[in-house]
Amino acid sequence: MTSKPIRVGIVGTGRISDLHAIEYLNNPAAQITALCDRDASIAQGRAQAWGCTDAAIETDLDALLARDDVDLVELLLPHHLHLEAALKAMDAGKIVSLQKPMCMNMDEANQLVEASEAYSRPFKIFENFIFHPPVMKAKALIEDGAIGTPLSIRLKSNPGTSKTAWEVPGAADAWRQSIEAAGGGPLVFDDGHHKFALAWHFMGNPEEVHSFIHQTERPTGGFFDAPSIVSFRFPGQRIGNLEVVYSPDLEIASQYYAQDDRVEITGTSGILWINCGHGQIGDPAPLVLYRDGDVTEYRDIAKGWEQSFVQSTRHFLAVLRHGGDPKLTAREGRDVLRFALAAEQSAREGRAIEIVEAK
Ligand SMILES: NC(=O)c1ccc[n+]([C@@H]2O[C@H](COP(=O)([O-])OP(=O)(O)OC[C@H]3O[C@@H](n4cnc5c(N)ncnc54)[C@H](O)[C@@H]3O)[C@@H](O)[C@H]2O)c1
Repeated sequence: MTSKPIRVGIVGTGRISDLHAIEYLNNPAAQITALCDRDASIAQGRAQAWGCTDAAIETDLDALLARDDVDLVELLLPHHLHLEAALKAMDAGKIVSLQKPMCMNMDEANQLVEASEAYSRPFKIFENFIFHPPVMKAKALIEDGAIGTPLSIRLKSNPGTSKTAWEVPGAADAWRQSIEAAGGGPLVFDDGHHKFALAWHFMGNPEEVHSFIHQTERPTGGFFDAPSIVSFRFPGQRIGNLEVVYSPDLEIASQYYAQDDRVEITGTSGILWINCGHGQIGDPAPLVLYRDGDVTEYRDIAKGWEQSFVQSTRHFLAVLRHGGDPKLTAREGRDVLRFALAAEQSAREGRAIEIVEAK
C-alpha cells in the first residue's frame, strides 16, 4: 500500500495497449514511466500518441525489469511468452498485471499460482469483460435477487465486418493463427477466455464441458474457429453455453474489434440480457431486465468497451492503495483457463470433459 503514484511499465505496446493506457494516463495514482516492445518504433509511436514522451523506451524485457523507476508491469505479450515474462517480473520484485489467458496450459498455470502465492506483492490476471459496466450492473442486480437463482447463461460471440472498427495490425493476427503462440483458436480460446470468465463470474466453476469447434477460412486469409458451440453444466443442474458464429458480411458498429457479444442469464424469476461487448448491433439498451411481467431497460450505463479496461485497471489501482485481492487472482485465472482448455480438449477428443478442480 502506498500513496505515491505507481510507476508503470507497459510490456508489449501492441494493439490492446491503447486501452490499458487510458486509466494509467488519467488516474493520479499511476504514472507510465517506461514502455517496452521488441520493436522500438511501436513503443515510440505509443509514447507519442499517449503524450508520455518522457517515458523510457526499452526493447528488452530484462532491461525493463532492471529499471528502478518501474513498480508495476503490465504484460501485454503473445500468450506463449506470458509464463516466462510473469516469472521474471516476480523475480525482479515488480507488481504484476498479466493479460489473459495467464498462460498456455495447466502445468504453466500451476507454476504461476504457486509462484504468485509465494510472492509478497500483488499479482493480477487482467480480465476486463467482468468489469464492463453493463456486466457489473447485471451482477449487482443478481446479487439483489432481481432474477431469483440464476439457472442458465447463454453467451453469443459474433464477429463480422465494421466500417468503424480499429485497424488490427497483421502481426497481431499472425501469432493468433499459430497454436504454438496462441494456445488455441482466436475465437473460442483467445476471445472465448472472456466468455468463459463471464460464465464463471455469474455461475461458478463448471463440472462438465462439451464442445464442437469448426474452422472457417476468412476472405482476408487465415481462419476463425467458428461456427462453434460449447456447452457446460454447473453444480446443481444449472447450465450454460457459448455460441460463436462468424458472419463475414454482418455490419457491426464498433470502435474496436468488429464483433457483437450478447449474454442472456435466466433465473428462477427473471431474465437479464446484456446487449453489448466489443461492439453492438442496432441500439438496444445495454442491459435489460424482465421480471413480474415488466421489462426494465437500463440505458444510463456506459457501454463503450474501453470502459471494461478502465474499470479493471481502476480496481487494481484501488487494491494497490487500499489492499484486498485483485480480480482475477492467479487461482481464479487458472479456473477460467481450465474452462477454456476443456472446451478445446472436448472438440479434439469428441467427448464431454469432466472438470476436476485443483485444491
Ligand atoms: N482483454 C482483452 O479484451 C484483450 C484484447 C486483445 C488482446 N488481449 C491480450 O493482450 C495480449 C496482447 O495482444 P495484442 O492484440 O495487443 O497483440 P499485439 O501482437 O498487437 O501486441 C503484442 C506486442 O508485443 C510485442 N512483443 C512480442 N514479443 C515481445 C518480446 N519478447 N518483448 C517485447 N515485446 C514483444 C510485439 O512487437 C507487439 O507489439 C495478449 O495476451 C492478448 O490475448 C486482450
